[in-house]
Amino acid sequence: MTTVLEMDKQVETAKSSNNNVNKPDPFSMVIFGATGDLTRRKLIPAMYKLYLEKLLPEKFSIVGFARRDYTDESFRDFVMESIESMLNRKLDESTWSKFAQNLYYHQANLDDQDGYDALRGRLESLSAEKQMPENYLFYLSTQPRYFSPISAHLGEAGLSHKGKHQKPWSRIIIEKPFGRDLDSALDLQSDVVKSFDESQIYRIDHYLGKETVQNILVLRFANSIFEPIWNNKYVDNVQITVAETLGVEGRADYYEKSGALRDIVQNHQMQLLSLVGMEVPMSLHADAVRDEKVKVVKALQPFTEESVQTDVVRAQYAAGVYGEDKVPGYLHEPGVANDSVTETFVAFKTYIDNWRWAGVPFYMRAGKRLPSRVTEIAIHFKQIPNILFNNAPFGPMDPNVLVLRIQPDESIMMQFQVKYPGPAMKIKPLKMDFSYSDTFCKEPPEAYERLLLDAALGDSTLFTRSDEVMASWDFFKPVLDSAEEPGIILPSYRAGTWGPKESDQLLSRDGRKWEIFESPENHDQCYI
Ligand code: BG6
Repeated sequence: MTTVLEMDKQVETAKSSNNNVNKPDPFSMVIFGATGDLTRRKLIPAMYKLYLEKLLPEKFSIVGFARRDYTDESFRDFVMESIESMLNRKLDESTWSKFAQNLYYHQANLDDQDGYDALRGRLESLSAEKQMPENYLFYLSTQPRYFSPISAHLGEAGLSHKGKHQKPWSRIIIEKPFGRDLDSALDLQSDVVKSFDESQIYRIDHYLGKETVQNILVLRFANSIFEPIWNNKYVDNVQITVAETLGVEGRADYYEKSGALRDIVQNHQMQLLSLVGMEVPMSLHADAVRDEKVKVVKALQPFTEESVQTDVVRAQYAAGVYGEDKVPGYLHEPGVANDSVTETFVAFKTYIDNWRWAGVPFYMRAGKRLPSRVTEIAIHFKQIPNILFNNAPFGPMDPNVLVLRIQPDESIMMQFQVKYPGPAMKIKPLKMDFSYSDTFCKEPPEAYERLLLDAALGDSTLFTRSDEVMASWDFFKPVLDSAEEPGIILPSYRAGTWGPKESDQLLSRDGRKWEIFESPENHDQCYI
């Protein structure tokens, strides 16, 4: 548990390193789905942290919009409990009460226009009272089926400022999933643009707010040594793993309709792929970066009927054990249909068909109930020639690998060969690693802090543009279509293992294997 003292120290350090960060204009944020899990666990704690770090403007309001029978007061209590439970500590009373003055609750039904008209009245009087402009940030943290209606109601209530988004501005943040396939994503897009221009729409993918994900750009383009070897001449293959130990965790209602492909792969994992694969952007301007990312997705080799069968593995977890704990199989999770064919694991192989990457396989896997929680990108470099050291008695050797560990222990690791000290020529693979928390002595901020701040500032670099979302759905269309076919039987894997044998075969067929590179646990330990 973080102590108050440690917390204060972290906040002080953050404040001093935040001196050169812009503050947004005064604004009102409205959270739809204000009493839901995402609001409680992520959004509200992130706003509070931004407030503590003095990154919010002096004047702001946060309005919770939901059906539940709360008042401003009881909503403030709900928010306080949420923050305390997430930060794992009691809040300082005077700081909390200053923050709490900015919290309000608006009780209404999501599908009732009157509630939105009343919201407009409420927002206008808050702005008048506080003498702040009518800048609005709408956060849609509801079930996806409400995304279209909410944006329509906001437009109807005159809250979207469509076409005049400069000043005062109005922005809409839409949680994932943006559609459930290409057609529904196109429909949703055409609904939302009736009320908001594309430049007002912020499609959130919280992976982009992760510090280590942003560091991919810095590593690649702020160093001269990586770019020359970041291509098919030097790279043998790339492996991107997004592994979770969690199961479906009471979210069957959502997950049954989603599965691993829609929940993680089509969005979070594709972001990692495009940041690793993209060309150097012309600038750090939002559209310059997003232009390059979308090109990667568009250059992915399309799946064929045959490659969907050979290069894609979908599977479902069966019962298993974690240490002493037994966990049920997916089909026995509460709320899951006993004949469900929703996948909890996906692995696939793809290629980026451009000059940089032609012929380099990208192996991707993501799943629930795997042995450890780890997200990592491993760039496997080519073997050295079979001469000199790569032959007996020294070889074969492990090739160089550069690992970008996104979580949990954010780090960068390079594997290379060294001579073991002594008279004999003994060669060992060594892992040289850089850990974020050890180096900077602080935990990276939560993704939602960065993303909420960026949206309030009007910086859309870390949000997905519509063409990128559509390109990604388009790429997965053959896989999604084939998953709908009748009579599907999914392979299963025991919870606590690395997926089904078919996933290993995907690589072994190519003479390769999946690898995960744990961070060295003890940095002071001698290397034997
Ligand atoms: C969410 C998914 O988007 O990401 C969850 O809906 C998943 O199923 C979560 O558990 C993983 O996020 P993180 O940040 O813990 O990797």
